[in-house]
Amino acid sequence: MSSVKKIGVLTGGGDAPGLNAVIRAVVKTATNAGVTVIGLEDSFDGLIYPEKSRPLTPRDVTGILRLGGTILGTVNRGDPFAHPITTPQGTFNYADRVMEMFQKTGLDALVCIGGDGTLAISYEFYKKGIPLVGVPKTIDNDIVGTTSCFGFDTAVSFATDAIDRLHTTAEAHRRIMVVEVMGRYTGWIALQAGVAGGADVILIPEIPYDLDKVAQCIRDRDKWGARFSIVVIAEGAKPKGGSVTLIEEAHPGHVERLGGAGAICARELETRTKKESRHVVLGHLQRGGAPTAFDRTLATRFGGKAVELLMKGQYGKMVANHPPDLVPIPLGDVVGKIKKVPLDSDLVTTARGGIVDEMALAAALKSGHLAGAGVDVWIDEPPPLSHALLAVDNVIATYHTAGITQDSRENMRTWNAQQVAGILRGERPPRLINPEAWPKFAQRFERIFGFRPK
Ligand code: F6P
Repeated sequence: MSSVKKIGVLTGGGDAPGLNAVIRAVVKTATNAGVTVIGLEDSFDGLIYPEKSRPLTPRDVTGILRLGGTILGTVNRGDPFAHPITTPQGTFNYADRVMEMFQKTGLDALVCIGGDGTLAISYEFYKKGIPLVGVPKTIDNDIVGTTSCFGFDTAVSFATDAIDRLHTTAEAHRRIMVVEVMGRYTGWIALQAGVAGGADVILIPEIPYDLDKVAQCIRDRDKWGARFSIVVIAEGAKPKGGSVTLIEEAHPGHVERLGGAGAICARELETRTKKESRHVVLGHLQRGGAPTAFDRTLATRFGGKAVELLMKGQYGKMVANHPPDLVPIPLGDVVGKIKKVPLDSDLVTTARGGIVDEMALAAALKSGHLAGAGVDVWIDEPPPLSHALLAVDNVIATYHTAGITQDSRENMRTWNAQQVAGILRGERPPRLINPEAWPKFAQRFERIFGFRPK
């Protein structure tokens, strides 16, 4: 029999579609188990100010499953421990006041729904003695320990729809359209929406970009007849050797605000390519609106699981999605970390043009459509070159172990699409690799492409 009879639920940090679905699930699951739920408004402020808390019954949460935002309100203002707070009752240390009020309200435990900031604050209160469970929320998908968070799918769906719409206008005007998406210091939204929307270039924070290469890719597309290009850039993307673009610097109680990367990218690409360019910032539209079916389901499962964990006395945990299961993981393993896009993930491989079957590539190259053997999307190498180089990489893989130097390998990377096409026409590679290893290279080349290079 659980000792938990009365719980509080709060939402903190930036909102994300699905917050209301979690609140609804918490209230329904708890009520079914005979537990009273108190809704706390504006994150932990709901404990500080008595007028910011209210009982929640199934009646209060009927109809909110499909609503974006949060019926409890939220705050996103950095470290609440940094400053004292003033209430009609006096000035207090924030953390002390929260602890005191938690006891006074007679709550047994809390469900804290939020991103890394809110989870970190929750962890502090857990260490001070509040029994609680965290529920991960973010459109950015950057919380470690869980494969997904609700809100992300909705953001990706919205961004994909936006990219679809931009395709038609970009094509009509033969323009470059640069789409800036959210994601903070990770490229999850950019990468998934970019691949889903068939973007031509995707720039993510995990791979600093080179605008000369992007411009070259756009010129290449022009050459083969695609006279428009869609570039998706994550707000946290930065050029090689450069830094992120900010709307606002960090200041007390506020983290830095990212933004502006898309505008700079569009301007620079216009200068380099002489093509008309426009940029669009999707901004908070990605956080608004109704959650997708996936997010509603995940959020509902998260809410139910959080109550189950509290009833079982599993405090200090975060509900994590480990498909097909939801599992509790220690909050201490989550806070202070960021889940970045792994560069060896299949999504990155796909966006780079895919691992190309050598024979399929050879056929595609011979037919003259270099990008035809894989996905026509890239994140840091233009497709014709990267596709061709993938094949060349395959060609030289065995050859590499046979004595090719890193330097020669780098030389190969400088071959452009025309030069690769030239080799396929039987021309000698521009900068010859180690002559002693040449016969082996030629043999393997012949096996793949059907003729012996000169
Ligand atoms: O973390 C969610 C997020 O939307 C980020 O993608 C973005 O950088 C940030 O919040 C924007 O925060 P705010 O709503 O405070 O401007």
